[in-house]
Amino acid sequence: MLKSLFVYGVLGVMLIPVKSHLMTVCMEEDEELRVDCQIENKPNKINTYQFSWSIEARQEIINTNVSGQSANEKFKGKSRVEELEPVGYRMTLSDFRDKLSDNTTFLCKISDQDANISVKKDNILSCSAVSLLLKNSWSWMVCLLLFFYHTHS
Ligand SMILES: *[C@@H]1O[C@H](CO)[C@@H](O)[C@H](O)[C@H]1NC(C)=O
Ligand SMILES: *[C@@H]1O[C@H](CO)[C@@H](O)[C@H](O)[C@H]1NC(C)=O
Ligand SMILES: *[C@@H]1O[C@H](CO)[C@@H](O)[C@H](O)[C@H]1NC(C)=O
Repeated sequence: MLKSLFVYGVLGVMLIPVKSHLMTVCMEEDEELRVDCQIENKPNKINTYQFSWSIEARQEIINTNVSGQSANEKFKGKSRVEELEPVGYRMTLSDFRDKLSDNTTFLCKISDQDANISVKKDNILSCSAVSLLLKNSWSWMVCLLLFFYHTHS
């Protein structure tokens, strides 16, 4: 009983950060910003994406394919969007590293669902570190599942 409470406790703690991480921001080796948005598209909605940022209280659209919306002129040709597997979109932005403020909020909207993340200019992880972190949390998951399986068999 205590054991399973412990397992559920640990699982709960681990699932919270996983759930809230709909967005990640990292810096690629060539100094491009990579923003991943992993919101699941609702099957009965029009499939659209929109990436923007909020900087000094101004919200500016970086890339979008929502009809009637268009990106801010200064981002034209500087960003691209690709689909992520299994869900979501990845936006890559070049030449704007130095334009980030101390607190830049990135927002994304996929089929009318929103997410946002605030980053500090000097605290952006490199993308290789992020993939290492993700890999690590996966190995934790596997250990945990094995543990779970073990204590219940
Ligand atoms: C937006 O782009 C996605 C992926 O390329 C596409 O599936 C979707 O149909 C596009 N939506 C619109 C409204 O053009
Ligand atoms: C950054 O800005 C966002 C949105 O304005 C705000 O919610 C958040 O508290 C700010 N973070 C810091 C560390 O100032
Ligand atoms: C960012 O996300 C939080 C929590 O989901 C939400 O309360 C807040 O309004 C969002 N901020 C913006 C600027 O959309």
